[in-house]
Amino acid sequence: MGYKLVCIECGKEHSEESYTCECGGLLEVRFEDVDIDFELNGKSLSVWKYRCLLPVKIEPVTLKEGGTPLYLCNNICRDVELYVKHEGANPSGSFKDRGMTVGVTKALELGKKAVACASTGNTSASMAMYSAKAGLKAYVLLPAGKVALGKVAQALMHGAKVIAIKGNFDRALELVREVCERMGFYLLNSVNPFRLEGQKTIAFEIVDEIGVPDYVLLPVGNAGNISAIWKGFKELKMFGLIDELPKMIGVQAEGANPIYRAVREGKDEIEPVKNPETVATAIRIGNPVNARKALRAIYESKGTAVQVSDEEILEAQKELAKTEGIGVEPASASSLAGFKKLLNEGYIDRGDVVVCITTGHLLKDPEIVLKICGSPIEVPADFNEIVKVL
Ligand code: F0G
Repeated sequence: MGYKLVCIECGKEHSEESYTCECGGLLEVRFEDVDIDFELNGKSLSVWKYRCLLPVKIEPVTLKEGGTPLYLCNNICRDVELYVKHEGANPSGSFKDRGMTVGVTKALELGKKAVACASTGNTSASMAMYSAKAGLKAYVLLPAGKVALGKVAQALMHGAKVIAIKGNFDRALELVREVCERMGFYLLNSVNPFRLEGQKTIAFEIVDEIGVPDYVLLPVGNAGNISAIWKGFKELKMFGLIDELPKMIGVQAEGANPIYRAVREGKDEIEPVKNPETVATAIRIGNPVNARKALRAIYESKGTAVQVSDEEILEAQKELAKTEGIGVEPASASSLAGFKKLLNEGYIDRGDVVVCITTGHLLKDPEIVLKICGSPIEVPADFNEIVKVL
């Protein structure tokens, strides 16, 4: 299989153990002469259906990730062909599993004994699960008090060593990079280019099922996923499997919006947000490590970025749950909130085909649900008492 690891800024080729270039640039996997051996026929969707475009040489560590449902959401909107791809249906309940199946396999392939990440929660849950399956030690750095309960529970139960730091995600990421460097652990944040390779299969599955949409909207935090999905679409075009490309739309929370601000000002660098804050804790990130890739994805695709308020996010979360039966965590709902904003502004037209990615499952963050919906009504165990409150 022909691929190499290349700096996106200066083009220098790197060994598989590198994460970034000496010039500071991010790395990406580039495929050459691939024998495409899958058909885009809407059948048997999964991450490993597209193995010929995944850069691993050994048998994958898999928990049967991918193949997530793509729902047509015409209860929410009839003017537009609106789909939701529900990544919460992955084994650990988020899209991170697509990246981890590849990243953890790569860790084994490179002979690593331990993996590590900083996380707003989902990356840690997924990494803990896949490293449990692979028999690797797992170390997790979290921002103390800011990670949704379900995610911490997963990381703990799957056997990771979970360390909460008194600092935000951006600080945790700086620290875990140092820990990995000095302790020889394999870094599984999205600065790891192999992880993004797994995540690009979201694009493959969308095309496999419905062809190329006009727009893809998704929440942006550390900015890996939007970069990965765009890479996926571009590869399908490069290998002659599609002719068109969608426009990529990054959605951020108002309190954690560095990508949105850069796009608004037409810049290709972000200015970090010092103290990011949002109810969507998964994307409470001020200094996204993949900003350069994400901005390229948005500009190359002629897409855009949009910011949404916490109220709009929670409104969209409720709407997905109550009108479409799709249970997502707050960050995930920002994609729908962004869609509604762009539809109202006339940016998205009637008849467009739109895919919103919902990145994580409702059960990841049960505490927010109780805040929004209140607690169950308690009554004595008696028929008449029950009838009174129906
Ligand atoms: N949605 C959810 C539910 C997430 O957990 C994340 C990122 C994103 C969206 C944003 O994706 O970082 O690729 O732009 N969560 C990371 C974590 C940061 O640690 O779990 P991104």
